[in-house]
Amino acid sequence: MAHGRITGWASNLPEQVLTNDELASMVDTSDEWITARTGIKTRHIGGKVTEMSTRAAADAMAMAGVTADQIDLLILATTTPDQQMPASASVIQDNLGLTCGAFDLNAACSGFVYGLVTAMQFIEGGLERVLLIGSDALSPVVNWEDRGTCIIFGDGAGAIVLERSADQPSLLGWDLMSNGDAADLLYCDHGDKIVMLGKEVFRKAVLAMESASLNAMERAGVNAEDITLVIPHQANVRIIETSLKRLGIPFEKAAMVLEHTGNTSAASIPLALVDALNQNRVNTGDLILMVGFGAGMSSAAAVVRWDPPQN
Ligand code: UT7
Repeated sequence: MAHGRITGWASNLPEQVLTNDELASMVDTSDEWITARTGIKTRHIGGKVTEMSTRAAADAMAMAGVTADQIDLLILATTTPDQQMPASASVIQDNLGLTCGAFDLNAACSGFVYGLVTAMQFIEGGLERVLLIGSDALSPVVNWEDRGTCIIFGDGAGAIVLERSADQPSLLGWDLMSNGDAADLLYCDHGDKIVMLGKEVFRKAVLAMESASLNAMERAGVNAEDITLVIPHQANVRIIETSLKRLGIPFEKAAMVLEHTGNTSAASIPLALVDALNQNRVNTGDLILMVGFGAGMSSAAAVVRWDPPQN
């Protein structure tokens, strides 16, 4: 149980949009196939993690009304840092003028939830404010000749400001897991492109989403009926539909952005969260289930009680 209120949020997508029809001119596929098998229509490409993250974070900080000197820690969840070193978090820290610790966290598509749980531990440990970003630029590591992968990925960033709160705990329960024995199902070697055994990843993803969600809900002491909004990793609409059905949560409770973003890995959960918050889909006391899975194979879920910002 941790006390950390989300007081600011924002997202950023690169300008360039790639449509299914454009993909169909590059590989043997069609808008109909991609739409029916994934739910994706367009994705944004050409982004850079440090640039997208800096924009999203600056907007989130402005919304929270916090200045650079008030941020105590920056955590960047990413699997595609701009450089091997330094950490992209350090570049973003400098861009934003922060004077605090900063590090990258790589748990692939589960990264934002890993980051949320990590940030909450730091807040419990005494920090006042943590800036958490989920960002990935997958377009540079996509094999644009492989129709089995290039149709799903995109670039983006989402950021939140977490502030210590004296009120009720906000992180009620969580689950972090990794199954390294399945690492060869989805990987990207240094200097190479993404390799994915899509069908097998799909099968494992459904089970991982279910198990992570059940564990987090059990630890939070809540049931599926108590969940008001689900923020699932945006990889494939069929994975989300199947997982929610197994959990007994109606699909209408899911925040969805993948139609216009594709799978943006660590950015996908914050992109969907920011969209839901901006649409006023969340009210005081609501229980939000965030759940992701990805390369590793990693999975993570968190049940968060929503306390509105009090700025
Ligand atoms: O966030 C990280 C985790 N990643 C994921 O969650 C991805 C999980 N996997 C998926 O989303 C799906 O497996 C894909 C969208 C990648 C593929 O969909 P699928 O329904 O699993 O297709 P499949 O690989 O089983 O292929 C079915 C058929 C095959 O043809 P045959 O052998 O039945 O004749 C494929 O060759 O569809 C064909 N196919 C395509 N056809 C048109 C595969 N990709 C395409 C394509 N366009 N892009």
